[in-house]
Amino acid sequence: MLDFDRVDQALAWANHTLARASDSEALDAALLLAHVLDTDRARLIAHPEQPLSTAQAAEYRRLIMQRAAGTPVAYLTGQRAFYDRDFWVTPDVLIPRPETEHLIEAALAWARGRSDLRVVDVGTGSGAIAVTLAAHLPTAAVWAVDTSAAALTVARRNAARYGLQKRVTLVPGDLLDPLIQAGQDVDLIAANLPYIPSAELDTLPVAQHEPRQALDGGPDGLDPIRRLLRQTPGVLAPAGLLLLEIGAGQGTQVAALAAGALPGAQIMILHDYAGHERVVRVERDGEPD
Ligand SMILES: C[S@@+](CC[C@H](N)C(=O)[O-])C[C@H]1O[C@@H](n2cnc3c(N)ncnc32)[C@H](O)[C@@H]1O
Repeated sequence: MLDFDRVDQALAWANHTLARASDSEALDAALLLAHVLDTDRARLIAHPEQPLSTAQAAEYRRLIMQRAAGTPVAYLTGQRAFYDRDFWVTPDVLIPRPETEHLIEAALAWARGRSDLRVVDVGTGSGAIAVTLAAHLPTAAVWAVDTSAAALTVARRNAARYGLQKRVTLVPGDLLDPLIQAGQDVDLIAANLPYIPSAELDTLPVAQHEPRQALDGGPDGLDPIRRLLRQTPGVLAPAGLLLLEIGAGQGTQVAALAAGALPGAQIMILHDYAGHERVVRVERDGEPD
């Protein structure tokens, strides 16, 4: 027996059901109902009297119960908005976060007025960074690397979704290894690698749903970034830019590691809207070593 058969009743039931499971229950309820009805949130508000079929009501109930059990909305709808477009997501990839949009903004600000850039997104996951940069830099060649074959399958779908498959080259591999092996250097390295310390990750709800290999940065959270910085001098062109997403409080340590790896580089720590350290920006010296 379902407790609702129209939009306003469905939303009221879902809000109530999610109240203890989510701190964004109204948004979650609306996103999931819009998904089930194949519409948008504005239409739900404009037409609260719209009826649900029995099948739609049953599907909505199923999704809300999964959300109440902790499954992220994006894995239920299969999509997440990032920067200026939607990306397919599955439980094989990290759900793109708004914080990562700061990395995109820093990349596009630096790229303005430059053409034919060679760009790599290291740890591409859904492809959110690679696809967004390729879309905004129409003359760029973009490589997207990940150790996860399943993630690369999702990234491939996202590149194709925006007609960018010819300019986004998806490569399986460890960090910059594929580029080093190909003798390919680049002008811009963008990386949102795992940066959560292993022990801390065990205590976080995010670890229950999103892939551990997207989150676990080793004992102090910096293993992948440390290794990437060791590889960077061999791949980043003179005057090139490296952008590293980091966790709050990691800025000083990562900036020091970057200074050691790229002497003479200009290094800045950028903050997100919450005031947390979020991106380390490293502009390489123009002179080759
Ligand atoms: C934090 S997620 C970021 C995903 C996506 N770039 C984003 O910003 O939403 C990190 C990604 O790095 C990948 N990864 C982890 N270690 C890696 C490594 N050593 N080399 C390449 N990719 C790696 C994971 O599989 C995961 O897809």
